[in-house]
Amino acid sequence: MSNRRKFIKYSAIGGLVTIISSAFKTKKLETYRDIKIEKPIVISTWNHGLPANKTAWEILGKGGTSLDAVEQGVRITESDPTNGSVGLGGRPDRDGFVTLDACIMNHKNQCGSVAFLQNIENPISVARKVMEDTPHVMLAGEGAYQFAIEKGFPKKNLLTDGAKKDWEEWLKKSKYQPVINIENHDTIGMLALDSLGNLAGACTTSGLAYKIHGRVGDSPIIGAGLFVDNEVGAACATGLGEAVMRIAGSSAVVELMRSGATPEEACKEAVDRIIRKHDSVENLQVGFLALDKNGQYGSYSIHNGFNFALHTSNKEKLIDSKYRHKQ
Ligand code: GLY
Repeated sequence: MSNRRKFIKYSAIGGLVTIISSAFKTKKLETYRDIKIEKPIVISTWNHGLPANKTAWEILGKGGTSLDAVEQGVRITESDPTNGSVGLGGRPDRDGFVTLDACIMNHKNQCGSVAFLQNIENPISVARKVMEDTPHVMLAGEGAYQFAIEKGFPKKNLLTDGAKKDWEEWLKKSKYQPVINIENHDTIGMLALDSLGNLAGACTTSGLAYKIHGRVGDSPIIGAGLFVDNEVGAACATGLGEAVMRIAGSSAVVELMRSGATPEEACKEAVDRIIRKHDSVENLQVGFLALDKNGQYGSYSIHNGFNFALHTSNKEKLIDSKYRHKQ
């Protein structure tokens, strides 16, 4: 076959491929035209999400980025000394040390994380520095602390008088039995979609109250406590981190959304997966929260009692999550 004839043949095939792929593109665009995309939007776990969302909205409502929104939003919870499960005022481990876990993820799958960090009030901002200023994803313990100090974060004692008193009371019995929805009410996970259509997420906690010294939960683990894929959606988890890690929970929720599940269906399947992997979930609470690329959101938990906060241009409220078991 002459070069010219080959060229004509391959051009014709190329033309056909172009026509077919344009048809798909057109169809996809039409489908998207039918979906009302809700943005900007921010959602976050538990009632401490209400004031956190308010701060996030100050950024999102002015056209700011989802990354700035989630970082600034969860810092509010971290710096609230009355909150016993995140940052300053968090309940210590069984030896009296407040140890913090946090991670952050942007729309480019860039992520940063800190685990077992002590004496720094805002671990989420340290996690962002890990993401932006280092070639790494995760720093832990003393190394994370040294990095934070180098970056100018002040050293601070995070054990408040109230938390110390509660811990001293706990020491009298030292019964390591976290109470569902109270001591396990532990994390703020926040997901946002900005006006450019970019997703980001943040997750931060002081972890389980009175845990073994050195324990790290799901919250700083990318794919467990948090996962963001800007092509699909974002998810975060709260509750017993050990159970979330065993199914790579937030990653599972995002993958289920990729396969066509709604955010609520995806969270429900992840919860059911956890239930199937445990002989009993009587004392086990986990909740998932998800936001997709179109601003649709949903949640699901093992037991009742989990809720999440929503903020859009015309809504600001707390929503009770659907759940599998009523207590
Ligand atoms: N979900 C937080 C933790 O288990 O530490």
